[in-house]
Amino acid sequence: MAAILCAALIVSLFEAPEFDDDPDVAVDQPETDDLYEDVIITPPGLGKLTTSIVDMHGQFVGIRCSTCHGAGDIGDPPAQYADELTEFHREMEFSHGDLACASCHATDDRDKLTLASGALLDYDDTMDLCAQCHSSEYKSYQHGAHGGMSGHWDRTQGERVRNHCVVCHDPHEPAFPQVTPADPPRDRFFGTQ
Ligand code: HEC
Ligand code: HEC
Ligand code: HEC
Ligand code: HEC
Repeated sequence: MAAILCAALIVSLFEAPEFDDDPDVAVDQPETDDLYEDVIITPPGLGKLTTSIVDMHGQFVGIRCSTCHGAGDIGDPPAQYADELTEFHREMEFSHGDLACASCHATDDRDKLTLASGALLDYDDTMDLCAQCHSSEYKSYQHGAHGGMSGHWDRTQGERVRNHCVVCHDPHEPAFPQVTPADPPRDRFFGTQ
């Protein structure tokens, strides 16, 4: 018995391990056409200035950035960081690395976001902006490990429901709110303090 195990071990040492470059093909996947699409829950009015006015559906009315910004910057001089704002958007909290407004907002078209390449992005594609700098979280998001998931796991049965990054993370202050830990267990003899 030991000899067989030994032999098996030695053989396995000489066998080059096989790496599967494309693990997705290991199981029989149904044709892509048969799969339900992912549904991504996106906050209403994404990329519009939120006002306190409520419409007939109870949603806050948003104003397009270009309503005030025309083609681009209007501050004089244009603010790069939150502490340079003197008259508007001053209620905004900001704590996201050392990023300037222009790291994300296109300076010559305020209705768009911008990637580091200079490419313009619609607000509907905000996740591509997050993915540019947070590729590992984006990757685990795509696999379903990050970002919450509901609906059907098996996409031949129904749609998978995901949250947009900005449902959980404010792009200006993205730290996830700290969760308050539960009370400590009660000490049987001395009680809790
Ligand atoms: C109601 C008018 C109004 C709307 C709508 C508005 N802004 Fe502004 N924004 C301003 C004003 C005024 C300033 C200049 C503030 C200052 O310098 O204190 C400004 C400044 C800025 C700046 C700093 C650069 C600069 O020009 O000084 C950014 C970035 C910015 N806004 C982004 C946005 C984005 C993105 C939207 C849409 C989601 C938006 N704004 C919608 C009025 C507006
Ligand atoms: C990390 C990227 C990023 C940076 C940096 C950033 N923004 Fe934004 N900003 C966004 C995204 C994405 C949205 C859309 C979010 C939404 O509408 O819920 C947004 C929304 C806004 C809005 C509309 C907010 C609302 O819902 O009323 C304003 C105004 C704005 N940004 C101004 C600024 C200003 C001024 C700066 C610099 C001080 C700045 N942003 C920096 C990504 C960024
Ligand atoms: C231009 C690059 C850039 C973009 C775009 C960007 N981030 Fe960040 N993000 C950063 C940097 C830099 C930090 C700070 C990292 C650190 O302090 O270690 C950060 C930190 C974070 C954190 C951790 C915050 C904390 O305090 O723990 C979260 C969450 C986050 N970003 C989410 C987002 C989301 C969601 C988006 C898209 C709306 C986004 N980021 C877009 C660069 C970016
Ligand atoms: C369902 C809510 C949810 C969604 C959606 C979500 N996240 Fe998170 N994210 C979290 C939580 C919870 C944490 C952990 C916070 C902590 O450690 O305190 C986190 C942490 C992070 C961090 C910080 C990681 C670190 O090590 O500090 C980044 C960056 C991040 N998320 C990016 C993203 C991006 C990009 C997306 C969209 C592709 C996204 N998140 C979608 C809930 C979410």
